[in-house]
Amino acid sequence: MKFFIDTANLADIREAADLGVLDGVTTNPSLMAKEGITGKNNILKHYKAICDIVDGDISAEVNAIDFEGMVREGEELAEIDEKIVVKLPMTREGVKALKYFSEKGIKTNCTLIFSAGQALLAAKAGATYVSPFVGRLDDISTDGVALIEQIVNIYENYGYTTEVLAASIRHPMHIVQCAEVGADVMTGPLSVILALLKHPLTDLGLEKFLADYKKGNP
Ligand code: E4P
Repeated sequence: MKFFIDTANLADIREAADLGVLDGVTTNPSLMAKEGITGKNNILKHYKAICDIVDGDISAEVNAIDFEGMVREGEELAEIDEKIVVKLPMTREGVKALKYFSEKGIKTNCTLIFSAGQALLAAKAGATYVSPFVGRLDDISTDGVALIEQIVNIYENYGYTTEVLAASIRHPMHIVQCAEVGADVMTGPLSVILALLKHPLTDLGLEKFLADYKKGNP
């Protein structure tokens, strides 16, 4: 399973990269705004800074909602670095843009996926990744992990190569559950990735090992 970090915070991205398990980054306009990154030039520069830290796919989202605007913006984003994956929304115009970029050999990530039908459409349009939002579905009492499983099965039935990128990951069990049902990728914040490290028996065990080592090596 690939691990992507879902943030535009450079310190968090560096920390996750230092851990040695980071395969890529996802961002969105809200995450950019959270870091105070506004204005086209600053946004493009910020993506470049992320590309310089991480060796992997970096999803950069378009803000246009029409096909021509998405193409213009996506092409500009793709120019920044070959690591850039153009992130497009699951809309009629977004599907057309997925097809356009896929035919040009530019990687895409179809975002805001909330149903298997949407994921099927994105795969048919040649998306490199689809991003079903697990946490936001859970928030409205719908099983987000079940959607991941459904999409994985559909893609397997037809041999689609589109990768299932479990997004909107809120806690470490989401990561484990998505891994169990075969998600190709998960994207989550640094805190959730680091939470995978934690187990009280690991802490207690280490404490005891250190205490016993000290007894023999005073
Ligand atoms: C996916 O690429 C989105 O950026 C993200 O995972 C959404 O997460 P949220 O529901 O926590 O905002």
